[in-house]
Amino acid sequence: MNKKPAPPTASLTWFRNAAPYINAHRGRVFVLAFGGEAVADATFPSLVHDIGMLHALGVRLVLVHGARPQVESRLKTRGAELRYVNGLRVTDGAALEAVKEAAGWLRVEIEALLSMGLANTPMSGARVRVSSGNYVIAKPLGVRGGVDYCHTGEVRRVDAEAIRRQLELGQVVLLSPLGYSPTGEVFNLTAEDVATAVAGALRADKLVFLTESGPLRDGRRRLIQQLKPDEASALADGERPIPDELRLHLKSAVSACRQQVGRVHLVDRRVDGALLLELYTRDGIGTLVTGEIYERLRRATIEDVGGVLELIKPLEQEGVLVRRSREQLELEIESFTVIERDGMIVGCAALFPFPDEAVAEVACMAVHADYRDGGRGDVLLSHLETQAWALGVRRLFVLTTHTAHWFRERGFVPGDLKALPLKRRELYNYQRNSRIFIKVLEAPKRRR
Ligand SMILES: CC(C)(COP(=O)(O)OP(=O)(O)OC[C@H]1O[C@@H](n2cnc3c(N)ncnc32)[C@H](O)[C@@H]1OP(=O)(O)O)[C@@H](O)C(=O)NCCC(=O)NCCS
Repeated sequence: MNKKPAPPTASLTWFRNAAPYINAHRGRVFVLAFGGEAVADATFPSLVHDIGMLHALGVRLVLVHGARPQVESRLKTRGAELRYVNGLRVTDGAALEAVKEAAGWLRVEIEALLSMGLANTPMSGARVRVSSGNYVIAKPLGVRGGVDYCHTGEVRRVDAEAIRRQLELGQVVLLSPLGYSPTGEVFNLTAEDVATAVAGALRADKLVFLTESGPLRDGRRRLIQQLKPDEASALADGERPIPDELRLHLKSAVSACRQQVGRVHLVDRRVDGALLLELYTRDGIGTLVTGEIYERLRRATIEDVGGVLELIKPLEQEGVLVRRSREQLELEIESFTVIERDGMIVGCAALFPFPDEAVAEVACMAVHADYRDGGRGDVLLSHLETQAWALGVRRLFVLTTHTAHWFRERGFVPGDLKALPLKRRELYNYQRNSRIFIKVLEAPKRRR
């Protein structure tokens, strides 16, 4: 007797869903920036474990740490404090000493955690090699508005070549908020400035800011999942009250996108596993700022009729799809799902349920010829399957003349007219002689 296979466990499903991201991120360059607050937190070892995991999964990592609380506490014990003028730090001699001490101490702490390899820890056998060095060249802020900012500096140049070489050797590069000048001086920089400049110089695939002020939310407290650079810029310069830290990150994100960094993520570092959830799940938990073309899948509306007609016209002319009049499409449009790419409809598919028989037809599936082989057909189909399941549908069918193999490779099996609901059987076009394929649905994978 055939034994039914046990359903996959949640962790197995999680792992399988993460696989596409593991493949996509392997060999990519990510710059991760976090504040000194993160290092001071009791949860820092688990953040380092997750960083170790990214490294083990083949991501090339540059870490940039901040040092503000550590600098401030050192100054406090000496009865001094950091002075700010016009929002900029003034680093006098005493402050520079504190910055150097704090940066050295932090570097050692982080290196120690990255070296952990005890058998009973998540870092078991990880052996992360760390490289730190004088990769950032700085210049002084100088005297502005009559104020001498002393040893406060800004990034002048990044030795991207040297960093790249370390990454190619499989090392994690760790950078402090310090820069060196050709005159042999040391300058106090912000981690933000260093991370953005390094990501830009490396043309990093991602720049990730691990934030202290939580996720970025809109006026109704909903997470802002994605922004284009101009939207990020408007938000950073706008009236809406958002924490200063996030405002700065948004500005840096815009600057990084201009320097062709692929994607910038703002992630609440206080969430356990924040990095893994952001980078290895479909929806992530933070805000993505990207200048890359924006594409989304959504339910069609009456406004999409024109776009869908344009997309399917050539396929109707070739006889691949059944001809639909504008009037018919207007009636059916709400059964359609579309993929919109920067305002253009590049994919569509319709689901027509027959609730009495718990079956549904997949129809009018099309991806624009310029955008094929990018997995969009798969995305449309899996969306329809989820939608169908939620409607109580347990079997899908499709009638096709040209695309049999595509559906067969996705779990459809040949069927005959008897498999169709009665109403649909009556409409079958014998002249067209489409082949019928059936797919028995399984419960969709859970989304986290
Ligand atoms: C079928 C279609 C929707 C797939 O869209 P897509 O975004 O390119 O699909 P995916 O990227 O998810 O899949 C691409 C894979 O399908 C394969 N494929 C595409 N058309 C195929 C076909 N007619 N028969 C078999 N395989 C096909 C591609 O070769 C590719 O496989 P590979 O990666 O192994 O080379 C698209 O090819 C299309 O619009 N075709 C014309 C319309 C059509 O036939 N619709 C079905 C009507 S019932």
